[in-house]
Amino acid sequence: MARATPRDISVTCDSAVETSSAAGRGPRHVAIIMDGNGRWATMRGRPRLFGHHAGAKRVREIVEACPDLGVKYLTIFAFSTENWKRTQVEVAGLMSLFRRYITRETRQLCDEGVRVRFIGDRVRLDAKLVSLMDTLELMTAQNDKVHLTIALNYGSRDEVARATKRLAEDVAQGRLDPKDVDEETLPKYLDTCVLPDPDLVIRTSGEARISNFLLWQSAYAEYEFVDTLWPDFTRAEFARLLDSYSARDRRFGAVTV
Ligand code: FPP
Repeated sequence: MARATPRDISVTCDSAVETSSAAGRGPRHVAIIMDGNGRWATMRGRPRLFGHHAGAKRVREIVEACPDLGVKYLTIFAFSTENWKRTQVEVAGLMSLFRRYITRETRQLCDEGVRVRFIGDRVRLDAKLVSLMDTLELMTAQNDKVHLTIALNYGSRDEVARATKRLAEDVAQGRLDPKDVDEETLPKYLDTCVLPDPDLVIRTSGEARISNFLLWQSAYAEYEFVDTLWPDFTRAEFARLLDSYSARDRRFGAVTV
């Protein structure tokens, strides 16, 4: 039976958030919409799940590349709040893949110094998966080399709605004065409250859409839309996109003089 994991905002999010801007020119936080698994499999005459399994292998390659490429935070979109609309076979296959991925990768992620977090609403996920997610978060909680955030049953609108509900509860209980609600307050209620905003958002597979991913957090992110299907996305292409980011002039609404 699925269960809720309510969070105590004042404990979780008061002080830990770090600012985003990188010390160097490369992006410190990269978020990726890993799209194209289904088409990749179909092109090979294989079931869509074959593509998702190939996609999982790419996750490993890209996580491994992060320390060398100066990426401290990597956030990946693994399953959206809209993905439940897929066939029962695909949804069940993806859930099974996530369970197996966590079980298989835990030791290596620990050894590599990767801290794993999950964002998204856990209420609809099955108890076994949630338990594996909790354990992985706990086991990697002391790591700091790379911060890998996996968005699972995540949708930005859903996240903002859940955040607003908790914020309203704090107001109703007298813990928060409505006068203090501003751009600094609301992000403390988001699932990403301890993370810096993404500097760069990459979407693979040629689609130029955001698909309800990190809408608040990516207000000033740079975007890269590439044609490569996710199972074909390599470390070399990742490095090239990071290089191209370094050449950009980020002004955050200001002007350069
Ligand atoms: C989008 O491609 C991809 C997904 C909905 C699933 C992403 C999952 C993985 C990459 C699997 C591994 C992830 C982890 C964390 C183990 P699509 O199916 O929409 O592709 P299509 O647009 O070609 O149909």
